Amino acid sequence: MRTVRFGIIGCGLMGREFASAAARWCHLPEMKVRPQIVAVCDAKPEPMEWFSQNFPSIKLATTDYRQILADESVEAVYCAVPHNQHKDVYCDILAAGKHLMGEKPFGIDKLANDAINAAIAAHPGLLVRCSSEFPFFPGAQRIARMLDAGAFGKIIEVAGGLLHSSDLDLDKPINWKRMIEFNGEYGCMGDLGMHACHFPFRAGFIPRNVRAILSKIVTERPDGKGGRAACLTWDNATLFCEAAESPDADGFPLALKTHRIAPGETDTWYIEILGAKMSARFSTKNPRRLEVMEYRNGVQAWQQIDTGQDTAFKTITGSIFEFGFSDAILQMWAAFLHELAEGRPAGRFAGCATPQEAALSHRLFTAALESHKNHATVAL
Ligand SMILES: NC(=O)c1ccc[n+]([C@@H]2O[C@H](COP(=O)([O-])OP(=O)(O)OC[C@H]3O[C@@H](n4cnc5c(N)ncnc54)[C@H](O)[C@@H]3O)[C@@H](O)[C@H]2O)c1
Repeated sequence: MRTVRFGIIGCGLMGREFASAAARWCHLPEMKVRPQIVAVCDAKPEPMEWFSQNFPSIKLATTDYRQILADESVEAVYCAVPHNQHKDVYCDILAAGKHLMGEKPFGIDKLANDAINAAIAAHPGLLVRCSSEFPFFPGAQRIARMLDAGAFGKIIEVAGGLLHSSDLDLDKPINWKRMIEFNGEYGCMGDLGMHACHFPFRAGFIPRNVRAILSKIVTERPDGKGGRAACLTWDNATLFCEAAESPDADGFPLALKTHRIAPGETDTWYIEILGAKMSARFSTKNPRRLEVMEYRNGVQAWQQIDTGQDTAFKTITGSIFEFGFSDAILQMWAAFLHELAEGRPAGRFAGCATPQEAALSHRLFTAALESHKNHATVAL
């Protein structure tokens, strides 16, 4: 079993998810490569305590990420820091010769993303991928197999998105994800957009243009210190795109939603593909359930299929048991490690989001900002 020694930069919500996935690697009985967390870095000392308490393999805990980059025993880095720091930290990681799993949106804006892509081009031997876990849900993997088999026929319409609603609570204090200086002009698109884009982009549904409607619903929040703070980021973004599978193919509607204020939704990722031969839809709101409609003998009937552990990377969990968010994180990390060890992904939809897909998402979000501002359709 090959061991890849990892450093984690950013020990918050997502840093912990990766460490926890690494701690239950035995869940994946067929993997020939495993991660070992040997170094952690956070700007503040407190978030690192949980790591040091739970991971005896950690030899370095530092508030200066350059110490991790200087450590020759570290082969790869997972970087999960606020968006305003993606450019500098990702470029430094690559300059240090470490493989990188970066968090979305892969740069606070298109300029930052362009700089990250230039650093990637300058280090072609490094594996660089962007975190996006939802396509690893078994329902999405089943749709992926249908796409690979060409089961849908001519595409009629596609919809996808990520919907939250914790921001409906007007008393929720502001955090960096609601501040433009840390989160960026994209607002909810920067936070949630890669989740909405990864699966359609991987399917080859490429937007040609976009008409976006962006909403600022909550303009002020408690600042957490007894006062109020302006909340200037976009809460919801609805993107109506003309998409196509190739430059000369017929276009079809692709509707992408990234909503932080979607009443009734906790953390709903969904994909729906309507095709001339077959249609399918999956939502994490009901994470077992895959819905499929195949047109046969003139009958149009949606079937509901309960999925179990039908995963890209085999697990020890019984095949009938349901799958969840932390399982998707584990599958995504299996995909990254597999590609690092084997030099290629285990399958089209068993690979992590690529820098090219992240770059396309930046072109889309930048066009969406312009579209909303000018009330116009913008070509990509
Ligand atoms: N894939 C997903 O589902 C998912 C979910 C949430 C967030 N994210 C992404 O993960 C990234 C981090 O988000 P989070 O929710 O974990 O945030 P978080 O606020 O929980 O954690 C970020 C951590 O980074 C630390 N930090 C800030 N600057 C640093 C620096 N220069 N060096 C070291 N540490 C530094 C902070 O102290 C904090 O502990 C963002 O890019 C976000 O978009 C991804």
